Formats: sequence, structure tokens, C-alpha cells
Amino acid sequence: MGGLIPADVVESVRLATDIVQLIGEYVRLEKKGKNYVGSCPFHQERDPSFTVSPEKQIFYCFGCGAGGNVFRFLMLYENLTFPEAVRRLADRAGIVVPRFSGPREGSRAWLEEQAWEINAMVRDFYHHFLTHRPEAREARNYLEKRGVSRHTQGIFQLGYAPPGWDTLLQFLASRNCSYRQAVELGLLVMGERGKPYDRFRNRLIFPICNAQGRVVGFGGRVLDDSHPKYLNTPETMVFNKRQLLFGLHLARAAIREKGYAIIMEGYMDVITAHQHGIHNAVASLGTSLTAEQGSLLSRYTKDVVIAYDTDAAGVAATIRGLDLLQQLGFRVRVVTIPEGKDPDEYIRQHGKEKWQQLVETATSLLDYKLSRAAEKGGDTATLLAQVLPNLAAMSGEVEREEGIKRVAARLSLSWEAVKDALQRFNKNAGKKWPNPDKIAKKKHNIIEDARSKAEFMVVKLLLQYPGYLTEVRRELGESFPRDPGLRQIYQFICRNEEAVRVDPAAWMHELDEEGQYLLSRLLMEKVPGEDPVKIIPDLVYTIKRNNVQEQREKLVQELAEAERVGDRGRIVRILSDLQDLLHTR
Ligand code: CTP
Ligand code: MN
Repeated sequence: MGGLIPADVVESVRLATDIVQLIGEYVRLEKKGKNYVGSCPFHQERDPSFTVSPEKQIFYCFGCGAGGNVFRFLMLYENLTFPEAVRRLADRAGIVVPRFSGPREGSRAWLEEQAWEINAMVRDFYHHFLTHRPEAREARNYLEKRGVSRHTQGIFQLGYAPPGWDTLLQFLASRNCSYRQAVELGLLVMGERGKPYDRFRNRLIFPICNAQGRVVGFGGRVLDDSHPKYLNTPETMVFNKRQLLFGLHLARAAIREKGYAIIMEGYMDVITAHQHGIHNAVASLGTSLTAEQGSLLSRYTKDVVIAYDTDAAGVAATIRGLDLLQQLGFRVRVVTIPEGKDPDEYIRQHGKEKWQQLVETATSLLDYKLSRAAEKGGDTATLLAQVLPNLAAMSGEVEREEGIKRVAARLSLSWEAVKDALQRFNKNAGKKWPNPDKIAKKKHNIIEDARSKAEFMVVKLLLQYPGYLTEVRRELGESFPRDPGLRQIYQFICRNEEAVRVDPAAWMHELDEEGQYLLSRLLMEKVPGEDPVKIIPDLVYTIKRNNVQEQREKLVQELAEAERVGDRGRIVRILSDLQDLLHTR
């Protein structure tokens, strides 16, 4: 396990590891100019946009935006925490890392680690109960009946929570875990008279892990037909259903290898899939897919096959989730399982080969919607409106033409009618701001955009020429930069002027993950022009003007408000502030 490692040890480990050599062990790299390029291991791509800089000792993918130093690479590739990555590289370099205490007590990282630790302990407890105790015989029989092998039970660390109200409670007490903590983690429930009791009773336990394999929560299934069939950990500090995919920690490697992920609905579907050698399966845990789950998955692939139960309760909700994935740039296909089965039943009955064949019949989201429409009927206009986004999302010309043909045929419309509708849809989507209010907003966005670009360039240039820091700080003050990602980096530059000058790769791991990606981008993207430093004053001016403009707009609004209520004093004050603004530059 992790723990804080002294900064100087981290730095020696980093210096002892050459990034090109390290990454070269995982990715085939070719020299191109000053850098090395290869196929990105973190997303699917045709043209290599994954770049490693020996000079800067960082990597950055121009395709998916992942980037960082040697530690980040190993964390992403091997699913490690930062301390784990440091230790791994230290071993490689023969550097001894002193044992050290964990993160600062009470900090978020510390609380998370505690939560994982307690959850892991509880997982072990339930698993041991399932595999060893006579009281768990019924649960073991149940799993056997459902064809879950001992081996698979071990891989998923399945467990059993006995019927008593205080079995876990007693165990936690014996391990010095406070009731308050256990209640906060959803393991115990606080009863009426302030007496806690076990949440999971007489249930099969499915530990739920995050992508790094840390236990963040549990699902519990009854052994019969009683209700509720499943009980899950409620939202906690570490358990957020919207940001989790069940089985992802076990599926990551296979998803990358196969190039796509299969998204199923339930625990049992994924468990059976894995047992039958289908390792690229994850489950969305019965909810409609969220943007968070999409971005989690996009680290590994942008190609998904949906294998939901045919009788999926909220089909509308399901489709919304799929449209969302498509909007995020995923290729989405849907497989229809015959005989109303779920993947668990189908795979168990027909085996892996038949399943693979079924997956090959998966249809595009467009065709899926069309075939559902054919089954259910509905008015043509509504159906057309539903599929236009899917047509619009098709990237290839040929593919789209084909799609238009199929829509026309299915809805008994002419080819031209569909094409027209699509054109109108595209035009509206491009326009996006049909009413005046929104036009104003668009104008605002363009200005915002110019500002963000200027902020981006200033921070980028400062990384190269930290000598300009004093001037930028003087001119732009505390409110710069507004973008939170850039702000994190800028503030680091301000605090560590010296370090910045030396080597960004040496301090980038102090930023959060997104911060590291952004910093890598700032460092890797080419600076346009011959003498970039010359544009710093212009950029600073753009940002200042934008500040003034905004203040002015705010004052004008306040003025209108003051006039409305007839507050003469305020009116005078605002007018004078506006005067002052005129003289700022
Ligand atoms: N689910 C849930 N709570 C429920 C019902 C379902 O959290 N009350 C989630 C579970 O993650 C479950 C998934 O939705 O795995 C799919 O539900 P369902 O199809 O009903 O269950 P199965 O996975 O098919 O379970 P089983 O085969 O054991 O009946
Ligand atoms: Mn099922």
C-alpha cells in the first residue's frame, strides 16, 4: 500500500527512469523529429498521435489528451496509485523507498484510503463467510445452481451476508472501526433509537470496485424471489453509481486489447461473461448510462456494444444513455438477444462461440431505433426526429447515405424528404442559438472563447519564459486565469518560479490528473510564430479588455436595477464607477 514518499526520493526515481525507454516497453515507438510517436495505448486510433518527448520527459496524446510524466504513464497503463507507481519504478532502478506514514490525517485522500480499507476488510469478511461457514450453505448452493464456479467467485470476491442484524456490526467493533464510519460507508444503517444494524442481511454480496480495483461499495442479492431483489450501497464519499462501471477493473485490459467494450445491465451478466472468457464486459448497474461513465470508459475505448435485457424496463431511458454516448463520440452498437434472455442466461445456455456470433450481428444505434419503431409503430414525424441525431452523428459520407436510405425505406418516406430533414437538422444544430437571448449568449461565448485562448497562450508562454511572470502578475492580478485548470498550473508557477524554470516533468505529478493532461498539452503543442514572447503584451491586453467589458456589463445591469427601484444614491455611485472604468485600460 501507498503512503507519502519523500519528494527527493520521488525525484531520484523519476531521474533514474527514461520515459522513452519505459514507454517503449509497452508501446512501439518511432522517432520523429525530436520526439517519438506511437499508437496511443489509452484510446483507439488509426494514426499515431501519442507523442513522447525525451527532452521534456513527458508524454502527450494529441488524440485523447492523456499526458504526464513517467509516473502518470504507469498509473494509467497498470492501474496504479501514485505511490505504487513510484515504488514500481524505484524497484526497477534499484532505489530504496523508505516506508512512510499515509496521507495527512483528515485529508480527502486519507478519508478515501480509510474507506477503501474498511470496505476491503468487509469484502474479505463476507467472502470468507461465503466460502467457509456452514451458515452459507444455501448461498453456495444458489451460486452453484446459477453456474458460478468457485474460481469465478474468487475473482469477483463474492460474499454472503448472514441473516442476523449485527453480524457485521460485531465484526467491525472487533476491528476498531467506528459505527459512525461504517454508517457513512453504508455498511450499517442507523436505526430509530440511534442503534445501528447491518444493512445487508441474508444476501449474496457483490463487491463493487472502481477502475483501480478499490472496493467502493456492495450490491446484495436475495437468494429467492423476495423484494427488493438487489440492495446497493447508498451514495457515499467513495460510491457514486453514476461514475462506476461494475467489473471495469477486471475488464480494462481486455477492452483495450479487443478494441471495444460490452456494456451489460447486471452483476450476473458480467460475472457469467467473464467465466466464459468474455473479459471485455462491464455493467452499468441498472441505470441509464451517464456522461461520467462515458468519460471513464473513453480512457480505454470509444467503441461499445450494448447488450441489455430485451425486456429492459425503461427503454426510453436506455436510449437516452446511448444517444449520450454517441454524442460523446462513441461508436454505439446494440445487440438484441433472442428469446428475451439476458446475457447471463444466453451465454450459459449457448456458450462463448454463439455469443461472439451474436455480437457480430450488433446493429448501429440508428438501425436499433428503426427496428424498434417498426415493432411499436408511432407517427412518422416523431420517429424521424428521433433518428436524425444518429444520422447526423455518422462520420462517413457513404455510411450516411446508406443510413438515409434505410430511414426512408423504414418510414416510407422519399430519400429527398429524409435528406432535407437532415439538412435542416444540421443547420439548426449548427446555429444552436435560435432566440435573441441565446444569440446574446453566443456573442458572449465568442468573447469568452477569445479570452480562454489568450489565457491558454499566456500560461503556455510563461512555462517557457517564466521571466515574464512578474509583469503578468502585475497586469492581470488575482483573477487570472479564470479557467480552473489553467489556474491550478498558473498558481503553481507563481509559487515555484525557480522549479518551473528547471523542469516541469519534475513537478507535474503535484497537479491532479486533468491538470497533468493540460500541462502536457501546454508543453507539447507548438508555439506559433517566430518570436512568441512578443505577443505576451497583446494577450495581456485582450484579457484586460475582457475584464473591463465584463465589469461594464455588470454595472449596466446594476444601473438598470437601481433605476427600476429608484435608488438615487446607488445610481450616482454606479455612474461614477462607470466613469472610472472608461479610464482604465
Ligand atoms: N438492480 C438494482 N436494484 C434492483 C434491481 C436491479 O440495483 N432492485 C441493478 C443490479 O445491478 C442488477 C441490474 O440492475 O444486476 C439488472 O437488474 P436485473 O436484470 O433485474 O437483474 P439481473 O442482473 O438479471 O439479476 P438476476 O439474474 O440475479 O435476476
Ligand atoms: Mn439475470
